Amino acid sequence: MTRPRKLFVKSYGCQMNVYDSHRMADTLAPEGFVETAAPDDADLIILNTCHIREKAADKVYSELGRMRVLKETAAREGRRVTVAVAGCVAQAEGEEIVRRERSVDLVFGPQSYHRLPEMLKRAEYGKVIDTEFPVEDKFDHLAAPSRIAMRKRGPAAFITVQEGCDKFCTFCVVPYTRGAEVSRPVEKIVAEAERLADAGVREIALIGQNVNAYHGRDESGRTSSLARLLYRLAEIPGIARLRYTTSHPRDMDDELIAAHRDLPALMPQLHLPVQSGCDRVLKAMNRGHTRADYLRIIERLRAARPDLALSSDFIVGFPGETEEEFRDTLRLVSDVGYAGAFSFKYSPRPGTPAAEMAQLPENVKDERLQCLQAEIGRQQAAFNARCTGRTFDVLFEKPGRKPGQIVGRSPYLQPVQVMAPAGMVGEIAAVTVTEAGSNSLFGALVRAPKSANARVVEAAGV
Ligand code: 5AD
Ligand code: SF4
Repeated sequence: MTRPRKLFVKSYGCQMNVYDSHRMADTLAPEGFVETAAPDDADLIILNTCHIREKAADKVYSELGRMRVLKETAAREGRRVTVAVAGCVAQAEGEEIVRRERSVDLVFGPQSYHRLPEMLKRAEYGKVIDTEFPVEDKFDHLAAPSRIAMRKRGPAAFITVQEGCDKFCTFCVVPYTRGAEVSRPVEKIVAEAERLADAGVREIALIGQNVNAYHGRDESGRTSSLARLLYRLAEIPGIARLRYTTSHPRDMDDELIAAHRDLPALMPQLHLPVQSGCDRVLKAMNRGHTRADYLRIIERLRAARPDLALSSDFIVGFPGETEEEFRDTLRLVSDVGYAGAFSFKYSPRPGTPAAEMAQLPENVKDERLQCLQAEIGRQQAAFNARCTGRTFDVLFEKPGRKPGQIVGRSPYLQPVQVMAPAGMVGEIAAVTVTEAGSNSLFGALVRAPKSANARVVEAAGV
């Protein structure tokens, strides 16, 4: 047997990249690679990159500079280190990466990582660039994670069910880097969920760039909606909690809204990006919905599930956005009342229509971002504060901040720090919230839990 080789994978950006990084490690495990958390003793370094905003892409190049130093040090010790760039920067920039950073051996896009073992062999003889969009389903060719790997990753797992986007918002690179919308078949997702449940996973988040546009085939060849997929997954013994992200308002159908009322395993939390509160800007962004459409969807969701915790993404300083149009976004935020949100300064992405429009000065974007973030921060703190004194189920995921603490997630996705035995990681237990911080909650166990498998999740009453 050959000596195990060490693999260091660093993920940037969204949860889909985190999932892809896990699957790359799973695919390389049968090739004798074991994961390491330290890049300096790795034989293979993979940076799984994000191209969504300029800053995200810049980070990759500065990290590659550090990797070059590591590679040169290793070479002096007679050790060969292979450096690979994966993900959306790889897809968008391809060969340019190798030109800018000679230490890179391998560049491959999000649709190619199942070919990693073969690409690595080729990389021994020269640079390899693979940014094709093959017709085959990469997930069919990937090794399943081992039980040990699944356990190590904790009781809350992701499954990619959909990739790509056909919406073409004018600011966004995703349709170019991730390609057209593709949904995985129901039975493959169910099989993956069953394996995860068998390894102790209690919560599954279905992920996709446009997850609620999901339209995978079921066993009988019919198209399944995301709502039907969620109902199917809720039947799997052990799976107590389901979530999905990221959704588009246009694909929020009646069935999915009803699932928030009728499916107890579906957690009362939803990330539904609106980007702007102004109709003119929404139109220029090619979002395909108005402010009123969005507010109507929120109203219906809240009628279905009154305690639904909502979050969103916002872009400030989109080309041509006036002060008054930005105020429309602030007003929308205060009309909706979010549990949290992400907000970004508009960042021109090469090849996207908005990059060609007249841009706003950086200082205007900075001011608007600060103003919006302050409002979102206030809303998040208020939402957390309203949780004080409430009791709800927490799924414990890992050791907490302080000795003796473990941390889990509330139904609303807030981190909850609790003094409890480490053996409770992986279990769901009722916790009373004693204190709220701006980002997380603190709580106390209500009672000693029964075995994790016997526990049924209670719908979180408000
Ligand atoms: N500039 C700033 N933010 C962007 N996003 C996507 N593209 C851009 C861009 N060019 C944000 C959107 C999206 C989130 C994932 O990233 O808000 O929902
Ligand atoms: Fe990008 Fe818009 Fe597609 Fe979301 S819906 S991935 S923002 S193009």
